[in-house]
Amino acid sequence: MTLALHGGTPVRSAPWPAWPPPLDPAQRALVTEVLESGRWGATQGGSTVTDLTAAFAHRSGVPYGVAVGNATLGLFAALRGMGVGRGDEVIVPAYTFVASATAVLLAGATPVIADVDPADLHLSPEAVEAALTGRTAAIMPVHLAGSPADMDPLNAVAARHGLVVVEDTAQAHGATYKDRPVGGLGDAGVYSFQASKAMTAGEGGLIVCRDETAYEAIWSVCNLGRELGGQWYGHPSVGWNLRLTEIQAALLLPWLDRLDAEIDRREAFCAAVERELAAEWGATHGGESAGAGSGSVSVVPRPPGTTRDSRHLLMLRFHEPVDREFLLAAMAAEGVPLEGGYPPLGTMAALVREGARAEPCPAAEAAAREVVWVRQSMLMDDPRHAAHLAEALAKVLAAMPPAGADGAAPVRPGRA
Ligand SMILES: Cc1ncc(COP(=O)(O)O)c(C=O)c1O
Repeated sequence: MTLALHGGTPVRSAPWPAWPPPLDPAQRALVTEVLESGRWGATQGGSTVTDLTAAFAHRSGVPYGVAVGNATLGLFAALRGMGVGRGDEVIVPAYTFVASATAVLLAGATPVIADVDPADLHLSPEAVEAALTGRTAAIMPVHLAGSPADMDPLNAVAARHGLVVVEDTAQAHGATYKDRPVGGLGDAGVYSFQASKAMTAGEGGLIVCRDETAYEAIWSVCNLGRELGGQWYGHPSVGWNLRLTEIQAALLLPWLDRLDAEIDRREAFCAAVERELAAEWGATHGGESAGAGSGSVSVVPRPPGTTRDSRHLLMLRFHEPVDREFLLAAMAAEGVPLEGGYPPLGTMAALVREGARAEPCPAAEAAAREVVWVRQSMLMDDPRHAAHLAEALAKVLAAMPPAGADGAAPVRPGRA
């Protein structure tokens, strides 16, 4: 079959669902109400930001929330509010979005980049242990792709060494670990509402936390160093204006009512992908039966303890070398675009120039070679269309040229 890249007929010509989904009536009504009220800022007496933070805190199983302009600033504010700053080190996973590390830099601390688990790609507790120094003040597990990091062992390391735990929940709205919601598993959790996220207002973020003192300090960081209930022009601490607007909150608050239904929808698509991959290559969930060398592609497994994966992305791993540039271009031409995913943070010269320290990260390096992502908007499609993904993969892999200049063998999709 001729690849679409070479002039053949694409597997899929219809567009995938757009992101964000269309406004629903509740969003339209609340946004209109806020716009017409003239109270667009969170300091003007409106209640939408307050309602949103309360709802998110509740869903996260903690009493406190602070809404912010984005999650990068939220991570910064959480660290700073809990006393992490100059001279401190914060351990972050090597396979994450760059903001996990730049937030640490913003707080004046040093990101220490530790490896991820080779199977599930979340921060490895063993790598955290190996990266500890006398300056380590915090760890930042990232709930990657919507699945929770295995928090119990990470929290145990943190407890043993007196470390702050800031969960990066930017990608994991609605996810649960051992039936407990993310965000309430560490000392603070930080959600993102940036345009690609499961709930979005174009931009935005929200910090949740359990401890009242931490809450008051984080609130102050986000409100120019004011004291909760204190004078408007009293600034006992140094802080910034990091606030979310009422208009953004009005887009987000009604979304909480449909979040679970949207996760279910993505879950159904992901389950269908797993079935399609199993039918094509015998890969089971998590690739347990699709070991290296099987010539297959499998779904990256969720960490132990996952009880609800919010399915922000679906990560696929190839078990033999692939020419990634060719793969991504050919899949896009087939109408099934995939994302290449993250380079390991430690390979980013800009972070290293700013003082980030990278531990050896072979698992993140392997992920950068072997893993690609299916985007959230695709996962919102009818599960029957998961067949397009499997069909396009089979077509492209069958035509894959030898990977790399070293003459590595091409992938051939051998059926199980
Ligand atoms: C894992 C992770 N952390 C942090 C961020 C930063 O979020 P924001 O864009 O809201 O600053 C993002 C996404 O953008 C992310 O995916």
